[in-house]
Formats: sequence, structure tokens, C-alpha cells
Amino acid sequence: MVKVEVKSNFEEMSKKAAREVGKEILVRQNPVLGLPTGETPKGMYGLLVKYYEDGLIDFSNVTTFNLDEYYGISKDHPKSFHSYMKRHLFEKVNLSRENTYIPDGKTPREEIGDYCKKYEKEIVRTGGVDLQILGIGSNGHIGFNEPGSSFDSRTRLVELTEETLENSFGDSNDPPGEAITMGISTIMEARKIILLTSGGRKKRAVKRAIEGPITEECPGSVLQLHPDATAIVDEKAAEGLGSPQISGLPK
Ligand code: GLP
Repeated sequence: MVKVEVKSNFEEMSKKAAREVGKEILVRQNPVLGLPTGETPKGMYGLLVKYYEDGLIDFSNVTTFNLDEYYGISKDHPKSFHSYMKRHLFEKVNLSRENTYIPDGKTPREEIGDYCKKYEKEIVRTGGVDLQILGIGSNGHIGFNEPGSSFDSRTRLVELTEETLENSFGDSNDPPGEAITMGISTIMEARKIILLTSGGRKKRAVKRAIEGPITEECPGSVLQLHPDATAIVDEKAAEGLGSPQISGLPK
């Protein structure tokens, strides 16, 4: 079962997420975070930067693993997840560069198999992900595990759906059609998972992931099988939810 916390809006959702990440950083000696990109976690990153600037948290012992990266674009491409993470977090806090891992979208094709295995080994070597933050695509994807991805999947090269590309690259005439993503099984190994969702456009995906059948057609539904998964959902994204987990809670 996925625990659900409904927050009134994006800001409140972000605050709760930042507190959870902050807590993890404070209580663990060498916290390992799994991190997402996209619009949804931007508020959370902004607050983490603020907590750092206010002296409340310190990233010097933190290790991060990003979920995914587009394949075929360089790290300094403005739409790469490397650029995103630099802009929103890495350049603004005292994370040491060698402790931040993001798949390299320029890995030669013939080396991808080994490269992905190495990415997984690094996760294990650092002790495994303590807290994985996730967003969800409107088609239910987590990371870049599109509908139909096996629940046993590991880090690998995947093809992106047109819907996903349209959402992220708009009408760019040269969108990357592939990505390297942590697998569903890789994600599920995190000790704790928090799914962040905000806005009406995520309503259907949230409902399917949290209350729908557990099926590879909705990769997010795998979270129902995790022993410690919580969805922090703002009111708009929670609109379709009817489960008893939330009906008694104040909004
Ligand atoms: C991308 C990322 C996902 C993210 C999803 C939702 O496809 N690979 O990790 O969760 O988009 O993004 P947004 O938060 O912008 O809706």
C-alpha cells in the first residue's frame, strides 16, 4: 500500500518533501539520495538550497544518484538532466562533485551494457539508496520506465514514447528518442520512496499508480508493493483519489 499525504498546493507539497529529505540528511551519516528531475521537484530543490544557505543542512557527506538522462545529448546541453541538476541543486550546495551520479547520455552504444551495470554497482558500493524521490509521467512512467517496462528491469537504455518526448522537448526538431534510466527493480531497492505529484494533469496517473491494479502498463503502480512508499500529493492531483487512506484526513 502507498501511504498518501494530501497537501493543499505545490508549495506545501514541496515543503513536506524538502523536510523529508532534510531529515534523511540529518539522521544518517552518509545519506544516499535518489533524485528526479522535471517540474515537480523544483520547489523541493529550492527549499533544500535555502535550508543549506540557512545552515540547517550540510551536503558534504551526501551522495546522490539521478534516475535518468536523455541518451545522445551532452552533459552541457541545456535540456540535459546534468544541466538541470547543476542549476537547481549541485551548483548551490556543498555536494562534492564525485558524490553526484547521473547517467552519461554520451556513453558509446557498445559500452552501454557495462556502463549500466557499473551505475548499479556504484549504488550498491555506497550502501544503497536511503530515500528515493520520484515524480510520475502522465502515462504512469517512473524514471524513464515507460508503460510495459518489466518490474524486473534494471538500469538500461530505453526508448521514449512520443507523449514523453512532447512533454519534455515540445516541438524541438531533434529530440533524443532514448534515455538511460534506473530500472524499476533498481528503484524498488531504495529503503524509502516518496512520490511527488502536483496539478490536475497528474490526477489520472496518481489514481492509477496508487489505487489501480498493479500492472506493468502503469509502472508507478509497482510502488504499491514497496514496504515504505509515500505519495505526497497536492489537492489538484489528489482529486480522483477515493481511497480510505485519505478520506479521513484534513485537507
Ligand atoms: C520525466 C522524468 C521523470 C519525471 C517525469 C515527470 O519524464 N524522467 O523522472 O517524474 O518527467 O515530470 P514533471 O515533474 O515535469 O511532470
